[in-house]
Amino acid sequence: MDTTYERDLKHAASLAQDYLANVPEMSVFPSAEARAGLAGFDERLPVDGASAEETLDLLHRVGSPATAVTTGSRYFGFVVGGALPVTVAANWLATAWDQSPSSEMNSPAGVKLETVAGGWLIDLFDLPASTGVGMTTGATMANFTGLAAGRTALLSNAGWNVEEQGLYGAPEVKVVVSEEVHVTVEKALSMLGFGKNRVIKVPTDSNGAMIFEEIPTLDALTLVCTQAGNVNTGAIDPIGEIAKEAGKVGAWVHVDGAFGIWAKLLESHQQYFKGIELAHSFATDAHKWLNTPYDCGIVLCRDASMLHQAMATTAPYFRADGQNAPKDMVPEFSRRARGVEVWAALRTLGRSGVAAMIDRCCAHARYFADGLRAIGFEVLNDVMLNQVVATIGSAEELVAIRSHVEESGECWFGPTVWKGRHAIRISVSSWRTTGADVDRSLAAIEKATKVILG
Ligand SMILES: Cc1ncc(COP(=O)(O)O)c(C=O)c1O
Repeated sequence: MDTTYERDLKHAASLAQDYLANVPEMSVFPSAEARAGLAGFDERLPVDGASAEETLDLLHRVGSPATAVTTGSRYFGFVVGGALPVTVAANWLATAWDQSPSSEMNSPAGVKLETVAGGWLIDLFDLPASTGVGMTTGATMANFTGLAAGRTALLSNAGWNVEEQGLYGAPEVKVVVSEEVHVTVEKALSMLGFGKNRVIKVPTDSNGAMIFEEIPTLDALTLVCTQAGNVNTGAIDPIGEIAKEAGKVGAWVHVDGAFGIWAKLLESHQQYFKGIELAHSFATDAHKWLNTPYDCGIVLCRDASMLHQAMATTAPYFRADGQNAPKDMVPEFSRRARGVEVWAALRTLGRSGVAAMIDRCCAHARYFADGLRAIGFEVLNDVMLNQVVATIGSAEELVAIRSHVEESGECWFGPTVWKGRHAIRISVSSWRTTGADVDRSLAAIEKATKVILG
């Protein structure tokens, strides 16, 4: 094995640049041939190692063509953001550092950057300066962490230490979710011992926002899981109203804002977020709408001490300096320094740059919806954020239209079922998407629709 970094890094940089140069014209979803080519990785474990150069070449030759081109401008699947150039570059440097920012003892630079980025996020979302912040793999774990803090707070108010005593014999916590709760929140609830089915599900309106009048009576042992950004429609629950009621009785309100909370930066969207700062914990992602590379989720908790109580670990080999070390705010102990890319994105975009990116995506989503209507689709949601849900023809015809577009390589979006109707779901989450990309994608959808429906 070669022990110099320089040659391998230069080689990897040239392969990455080659990949990125091809992105604009690559098939957005890899062709069947490229996917079949992945068999090129099916080698026996070498007895004697191969060279780094040949290993990187194989990675590029076989791996690159079989990627879904999520860094491009016409990938509209799930809610997947692109990656701003500076965040990819900062990620490379941070990987060269190979830091695990568990605490300042492990990585002074990693912790500092995460702390600065965390402070900027608090500022962006208008939360109190004392808010606790943690960085996780994604919104799944950010939801888990915020809900764990809520569990700790509710039970300790009832005189129960869940960290010490577990849930056996604990006072019962009433969990309230939307009927549109994201599956990862359900997973988080099950991991926290609340069970997926032992929850009260609140009915939603036609766009998927919880109906405030349907919220059950709250009390000091209620955990309410709200949503800012329904994964299909982008709908935002009446979080401020719910949090106001919760505040009167000591209930805890968590916000799953995996992508939607970023729209809080827009003047045009203020009505949806009125009073949201009264909620107790928030989960979001940087790898979605902030366009950092995978992976990075963020948990914010107004009472930092509850996050700390739920997540803190002590060991004789750590300095006990009373600080909120990153390892004490999230489930992971060792992990990558993912705050670096958040810092780089926020520093280079600034508040106005982030808001402009979010605004642009919302405008493109509205443009998409108008274009889809013009070619005969029915748009099923109120396009208030970056999500469009639309349908045409039968369920089978819709599958065929989607496959046709996928094979064309022009753009990619996924299927969904909205309020019982089969539909396509388009999420405009990339910094890179332009109006011309939407036009090109609409042309591909129109062509596919004509082929399938005549
Ligand atoms: C509303 C919502 N919550 C949670 C998640 C889970 O996020 P992640 O995949 O980053 O864990 C998603 C992902 O799409 C989402 O849209």
